[in-house]
Amino acid sequence: MLEMVPHIVGVRQRVTPNTTQDKNTRTLDRIGLAPDLGYMDTRGIFLFLHLVGLAIWFGATLVLALLTIRAKRTDNWSVISFAYNANSQILKGPVLVGMLLNIVSGFGLTAIGGFGYFQPTPNHWLFQMQLLGIVAFALALLVQIPNAGRLASAAEAIASTGEENTSFQQFKKRNAVVSSLNGLILLLVTLLGALRPG
Ligand code: HEM
Repeated sequence: MLEMVPHIVGVRQRVTPNTTQDKNTRTLDRIGLAPDLGYMDTRGIFLFLHLVGLAIWFGATLVLALLTIRAKRTDNWSVISFAYNANSQILKGPVLVGMLLNIVSGFGLTAIGGFGYFQPTPNHWLFQMQLLGIVAFALALLVQIPNAGRLASAAEAIASTGEENTSFQQFKKRNAVVSSLNGLILLLVTLLGALRPG
């Protein structure tokens, strides 16, 4: 009886048929909203790692910007020094792990999806994701993280001597520019991933 009214019960097409189950399974989840952990495949695992990496990278970028802005407003050098130290430690710890997760799994996804590396067509969104993702990664690795370490040391020196120096201003400006740029790239690439066709 239920088989005769699939529009009520719903039929979900399995993408990867399970050897022990039927290709079509009756489900109350007609539009496929419930996660199907039984069908977690290599792509699913890579995509999970890709998104977890993105969440850590993007989330920490936003929180660290808010933390350092708030700290600067206090005009208290112990607080400012603490914030820049936290910024540096978190960037070279969890954020670096998040970035690596995102980039490595991105390459994994490209390999198993048969999309092709750095090909402008037919997947423009992916080409832009690959290029911008690599640019953001390189900027973080080569500029943002080393500069954050220097900025933290300069803030610490001011906190202990009470004398402001020009290198602190320079590191602070570079930190603001590169962090904002990377935040913007991450936002743009997430939008590309979300609005991808197909
Ligand atoms: C800033 C860095 C990146 C961000 C924010 C990002 C974000 C995303 C998001 C949100 C998706 C989900 C799209 C969907 O499945 O509908 C996605 C998928 C994907 N990403 Fe990235 N990505 C980044 C870097 C990369 C890099 C560097 C590569 C490759 C070298 C890559 C390769 C892929 C592939 C192949 C998929 C599609 C998986 C599939 O549908 O099979 N990504 N990415």
